[in-house]
Amino acid sequence: MTLDLSRIRSYFPALADDQLIYFDNPAGTQVCQGTLDRVTNYLIHTNANRHGVFKTAQESDRVLDEARAACKDFYNASRVEEIVFGPNMTSLTLHLSRSLAHLLEPSDRIVVTWMDHDANITPWTLIAEERGCQVDWVDFDVEEGTLNMQDMERALEQRPKLVAVGYASNALGTINPVRKIAQMAKDVGALVFVDAVQYTPHGITDVEEIGCDFLVSSAYKWFSTHVGMLYGRIELLDELKAYKVRPAPKHPPGKWETGTSNHEGIAGVLGALEYFEWLGREYGGDHLARYQNDFSGRALRLRQGMAAIKAYEFEISRALLEVLSSIPEVHIYGPTDVGRLDERVPTFSINVDGFHPRELAEKLGQRGIQVWDGNYYALAVTQRLGVEDSGGMVRIGGVHYNTVEEVYRLGEVLREIISSR
Ligand SMILES: Cc1ncc(COP(=O)(O)O)c(C=O)c1O
Repeated sequence: MTLDLSRIRSYFPALADDQLIYFDNPAGTQVCQGTLDRVTNYLIHTNANRHGVFKTAQESDRVLDEARAACKDFYNASRVEEIVFGPNMTSLTLHLSRSLAHLLEPSDRIVVTWMDHDANITPWTLIAEERGCQVDWVDFDVEEGTLNMQDMERALEQRPKLVAVGYASNALGTINPVRKIAQMAKDVGALVFVDAVQYTPHGITDVEEIGCDFLVSSAYKWFSTHVGMLYGRIELLDELKAYKVRPAPKHPPGKWETGTSNHEGIAGVLGALEYFEWLGREYGGDHLARYQNDFSGRALRLRQGMAAIKAYEFEISRALLEVLSSIPEVHIYGPTDVGRLDERVPTFSINVDGFHPRELAEKLGQRGIQVWDGNYYALAVTQRLGVEDSGGMVRIGGVHYNTVEEVYRLGEVLREIISSR
């Protein structure tokens, strides 16, 4: 059963302003009612620091533990201790990289890709520099917008210690074959770090299925609060040296969660996961058979919810592809094969002949269509595409609350802007 968009949109108070079209989603989505309720409720009824022996502290512990347990189910981690909360993906990655640096010898190698957000590149090049290691860069095919797997194979032949790869590109929308890459990396004994920030809002992110050691994501990209999450395999989180203060816990997740967390934000994460569960109950019937043998309860409903989102988003990707490729002045970067929609998320970067990306984004913004321009920190991508010095690209990113009508409206407005030049 497909999503009922007017019902879905009513769960996002910000969308009540129908003068605005939000296509800036890859930079951060609007927030669902479940998150808002959890945040408000937390701050009114359970606001306290953790592990106290009084009512609000105990209730606070209960909500935050529940949020962690829901994240465990969401990612299919094996234990709640494998879920670490932090301020955002970048801080968590820099934090972990400092610890992983201790595993590196000067002869070791690290693999990064040209397709990644800088938050999955620079933390690794910094530790490589510190430890005297070599970094191997995996390229992507500029025309197809896909990772060069031969390059990946070549890099893996050097038996790296760590492979850092993105699940979905925040610039090109490409979904990388992370499961295959993790398998190949494991075969040569590498640790695998997956940046799932741009995949998580669009489909099921399953750490066991991927077979990675670490995976990061950020809840503000999936309808929730400004909270980041790190999944780490328990043995690694246990054994690695964490940079922490003395009284902080010695074991995961506490040893990785420096200082007081964003409690209301974490409560909000639980609200978003409850929303996905609701989607699963209401719209996930078609996906029950696929997951019910391996999952039950909340984990099953979360999978059904994310599968319903993914199925609906094909229509958004298809419409964006159709509309953007029908305008001759528009150049699309990244995968454009309508027969391979399952290899991309609805994130499209474009340039339009005769327009600087900033000017185009401004003109769209003036007409109520919110899009991002520049490099969106995917600096390696804009450099590799040769657009960094000309203002980057304009990014249009859909999620499951966007409608096909909004995509058609974008097409009309783009044509209007181009013809008025
Ligand atoms: C693919 C990707 N990775 C990492 C990040 C950084 O996330 P955060 O803002 O949580 O540090 C972003 C943010 O846009 C992103 O798109």
